[in-house]
Amino acid sequence: MCGIFGVINDQTNEAAQTVLSGLKKLEYRGYDSWGIALKATDSNDIKIDKHIGKIGSAATSLPRGSIAIGHTRWATHGGVTDANAHPHLDCSHHIAVIHNGIVENYQELQSKLKTQKHVFVSETDTEIIAHLIEEESKTKPFFKATLHTFKKLVGSNAIAVLNGKTGEVVVCRNGSPLVIGVAKNAIYIASDATAFLDKTNTAYFMEDDEVIDIKKNDDVSLYSISTEKEKKLVVRKIDWKAEAAEKAGYAHFMLKEVNEQAKTIPNALTHKDKTIAQVAQRIKVGYKPILIGCGSASYCGLAAQYLFAQAGVEAINFGAYEFEPFSPLVSEKSLVFAISQSGETADTILAVKQAKKNGAKIVAIINAQGSTLERLADYCLPVGAGPEIAVVSTKAFTAQLGIFFALTGELSKINPAPFIHDFPLWLKNKKTSETILNLAKQLLKTEHIYLIGKHINYPSALEFALKLKETSYMHAESFASGELKHGVISLIQPGTPCIALTAHDAVQKEVISSAIELKSRGAYIIGVGPENNKAFDCFIETPDNGASFSIFYNVAVGQLLGYYLGIGRGADPDKPRNLAKSVTVK
Ligand code: F6R
Repeated sequence: MCGIFGVINDQTNEAAQTVLSGLKKLEYRGYDSWGIALKATDSNDIKIDKHIGKIGSAATSLPRGSIAIGHTRWATHGGVTDANAHPHLDCSHHIAVIHNGIVENYQELQSKLKTQKHVFVSETDTEIIAHLIEEESKTKPFFKATLHTFKKLVGSNAIAVLNGKTGEVVVCRNGSPLVIGVAKNAIYIASDATAFLDKTNTAYFMEDDEVIDIKKNDDVSLYSISTEKEKKLVVRKIDWKAEAAEKAGYAHFMLKEVNEQAKTIPNALTHKDKTIAQVAQRIKVGYKPILIGCGSASYCGLAAQYLFAQAGVEAINFGAYEFEPFSPLVSEKSLVFAISQSGETADTILAVKQAKKNGAKIVAIINAQGSTLERLADYCLPVGAGPEIAVVSTKAFTAQLGIFFALTGELSKINPAPFIHDFPLWLKNKKTSETILNLAKQLLKTEHIYLIGKHINYPSALEFALKLKETSYMHAESFASGELKHGVISLIQPGTPCIALTAHDAVQKEVISSAIELKSRGAYIIGVGPENNKAFDCFIETPDNGASFSIFYNVAVGQLLGYYLGIGRGADPDKPRNLAKSVTVK
């Protein structure tokens, strides 16, 4: 949700170009508008370049200089206009601010600033930050003015502020992510470390309640915001490679990431370390798993609930945004699994903080490194899928699920070997992609599509439908097949496409029987699974590796179908409309 990138002491003296290329890597965080503020060489003026729309292949004509900060916006306060694009300036045009988050008390702060004769040119909450710093600077040096301004902001926020007179940059974090990249002669700031991995893999992941004052590349100080005391800045190495965040010849990150599952799912399934054993041990001695996440991560939690049940363990799952009413049920005997690709999802973080207050132990099932959830957790099970750049989650979802297989396998002894052998071959097989592409061509004009699945293939159906909605903007809705006759079958009209997700399992016949009921109301039935059936008008075959593993095949069909439909319907599968990769606000 909004991307921040900055450089101090750019080695090429082309800081604006460096920031532009960093912002392009962060575009997945918001693509309503983008902008850069530069301290030009030999000038006290801040030069600004900002535009609405995706940064895509944009260029900037900002002059040379070694210090710049930039932003990609996902609009929350104020429409998508040039004036609302970041950076925002104070009245004197010496202070530029970029911001990720929401200033919840901005209206009252703005009213006061207006009485002090500050003039506002945008409708954003961000602009008040620049004017507040200007006001505070009347009595304090720039760093203190920024720090004291940040203390007045209510909400989850991260800011980077450039002082055009001195070139000093101050960054503050409370609730929204910020990482500092430390290179030999330059400092980078970013919302996500993947944006500067081509420059350095040495990083400091800021904590909440921290501020960093960057006077020069070799004069960088870290402080606590609340106590204002200096802290030691201890960097760490990131083990992701810069190439992992590139498209590697694929047309889109989404397609690359779907294909990477040939490795990422097997890696997750065979994840064996002492943390898995420790977490499994907690469950064996009676800790109750509570699974929370949002979107795809929540569907992963639902699938994990079935896996736990299979292993004889009672677990509950719900969207992190619905945690509050259930929080009294969470105690020191609970094991809360926080499932998240980014580790920065605001609702999941809030739920985890509450669960910790109740005494629960937290297990983070996370993909990104150095995230807030990782730091809040008692146990971290990294899913190891590598950078996921497409906004739509694919390989992170399946790797998270793979970790639950590894964990519940520890409890129930499921054998992943046949799946590990068959899945990569199936995914790479031309026939798989051709069949799905042909189906996408057939469904191009469809506006409503329904999916059914049962048991573990109910969460498969939910995740499948989410992929179709996100990438193709088609209305796709999933039902547990047992639910059909209780009302929703009334939606079916002659020709309505319905997808039945099957496995070679105890409920295969029931799902097929539901498909036949749909067909008798005129539905066009697309079967997915290991066995064809005469009820199917179209069939996508998947290998038979047992009921549990069918979820990986069925979801992968949804990912590919969503991808091809998105392209066919003129959407950008990497950057669907209205979405941002990391939802860092409530
Ligand atoms: C779906 C998708 C979202 C995320 C959700 C949680 O394709 O990407 O539904 O799964 O926003 O995000 P994380 O996993 O970062 O907590």
